[in-house]
Amino acid sequence: MITKKIEKAINDQLNRELYSAYLYLAMSADATAKGYKGAGKWFRVQFQEEQGHALKFYDYLQSQGAGVVLNEIKKPKGTWKSLFEMFESTLKHEQFITKSLNELMDLAVAGKDYATQALVQWYITEQIEEEANDVDILSMLKMAGSSTGTQLMIDKQLGKRGAAS
Ligand code: FEO
Repeated sequence: MITKKIEKAINDQLNRELYSAYLYLAMSADATAKGYKGAGKWFRVQFQEEQGHALKFYDYLQSQGAGVVLNEIKKPKGTWKSLFEMFESTLKHEQFITKSLNELMDLAVAGKDYATQALVQWYITEQIEEEANDVDILSMLKMAGSSTGTQLMIDKQLGKRGAAS
């Protein structure tokens, strides 16, 4: 059983996860259209992961007998200047997601809601890995600079990412 306040906060987070999925699908389309097939695949896998994150909140709400409220999903940007800009936006977005998850945790702690705390801890741990991956990719892209050959090598590497679990 969760409070109405936590129910609303989880539904808001569910919407942010769906927006994340939408954003990464837009990046996947743009990267592929620009010839970066590896990055296109990387973002497609990320799109699937975000759908999984949204569904985990969805299932939790239902397990608690709480209501699922699906709100409008904001339209994402459609084009990015470079792979570097794409991953820069990704890191910035994930930092925003981490902040919103921390706020959700604050609410759960204040309400002594231990079940929600356990759930949100899973996401917070996941965020450490997501941000670290983005930082690694960004530093590789930074080193590549304007070298198309090196960018294509990085793109090939990104394409090796396995399917979302
Ligand atoms: Fe759902 Fe990218 O965190």
